[in-house]
Amino acid sequence: MTAQITEFIKHFKSAIEGSSFVKLHLGAYRGSEELRRILVRPVIVRDTPLFAVCYQYQRKDIHKNIDEPQIVQLLQEKLGKDFFQATLYSTEADLSLELQNGKARLKSSAASFSDLPSSAHDRQKNRCVPEDAPFLKVLDISDARGRIRPQRYDKYRQIDKFGEILLSVMPNSAPKSGQALRVVDYGSGKNYLTFATHFLLNQRMGVSVEVVGVERRSDLAEAGQQVAQELGCAGLRFECGSILERQDLGADVVIALHACDTATDDALLAAVRARAALIVVAPCCHKYVRQNISLVEPHSELFKHGILEERLCTLLTDGLRALALEACGYQAKVFEFISSDHTDKNVMLTAQRGNSQKQRDQARMKMDEILKLWGLPDFYLDRVLTQYGAWPDA
Ligand SMILES: C[S@@+](CC[C@H](N)C(=O)[O-])C[C@H]1O[C@@H](n2cnc3c(N)ncnc32)[C@H](O)[C@@H]1O
Repeated sequence: MTAQITEFIKHFKSAIEGSSFVKLHLGAYRGSEELRRILVRPVIVRDTPLFAVCYQYQRKDIHKNIDEPQIVQLLQEKLGKDFFQATLYSTEADLSLELQNGKARLKSSAASFSDLPSSAHDRQKNRCVPEDAPFLKVLDISDARGRIRPQRYDKYRQIDKFGEILLSVMPNSAPKSGQALRVVDYGSGKNYLTFATHFLLNQRMGVSVEVVGVERRSDLAEAGQQVAQELGCAGLRFECGSILERQDLGADVVIALHACDTATDDALLAAVRARAALIVVAPCCHKYVRQNISLVEPHSELFKHGILEERLCTLLTDGLRALALEACGYQAKVFEFISSDHTDKNVMLTAQRGNSQKQRDQARMKMDEILKLWGLPDFYLDRVLTQYGAWPDA
């Protein structure tokens, strides 16, 4: 009996993984409560795929939203103890499990449903990158039918949110007519956002683009190049190299998402040197300020706890980056990228050229004051901007 229950749970998990899960019913209740059956269906709550569970009692229904491990636990605990019948509906097949007199029977039959329930499709609404975008399939974020794999949903949400932000800032940054928009994605990693950028600008907006992903890991750069060729993405290529080495690319738009520590500053340096019209970065870890800060009273007392000092350094790093960009002639904005429920690396910094001389001077002054106030001998971005003669008035 246990083997069939395990098999049933295995089918449930693969229906989730293969994005074919429609619903699940548990019946033939023989427990001590007034419960009759349990119904489970997929649901999206605050952008997170979950399962809506309805406990149907004789005189009331109780609803709960739970995640996959909790559903699996529920099946393990209830099947064969309280519930003796279960049916799994997927778009592949119906699978019923009957447990009777210590025996178990698993029976598969033709699928009653060929489409997923509308709740599973709700997530399609207002999406900027459609679930069936070809690059999502090739990068294994969606399945062959163009539905996001549940375990890749966080990554999809990040890609889509990034796309939404990119498109919202893009119109002011279009290059002169007849020229391709040059976009460099520094620290392109597994290349999801580079492909998203190319897809949105080229395929969705019809802009002529030259998108380059720069990545120090040759395996990742090569993998990106191979997929770009496979998909026939004109104007998209990947190069292996470090951000500091590849400052020569020239760019109208510079992107750097979660490039490690000061790699974000190297990308900002490249943007300032290229006089990029638009910068979109999401900082990653912030080690430089932490290693160089020397707090004095009363700040040292306030931030004597490691976690608080770490957060202070994170805030100082990103605040100083924004000020440095303002001092370089950009209008900078810092805001939440994706909900902190999903990652703590959730800050986005965008900057568009267009600050007046007065604003630049004020930002520079504030930056110097803050460095002094917080006991920082220098700031990495300031240092490299100076080293490369990239301060506008240098
Ligand atoms: C956390 S991943 C982020 C990848 C991608 N931007 C994203 O958000 O999905 C950071 C990537 O930046 C690359 N990287 C870090 N420092 C770099 C540098 N100085 N030059 C080039 N690549 C760098 C790493 O190898 C890694 O693949």
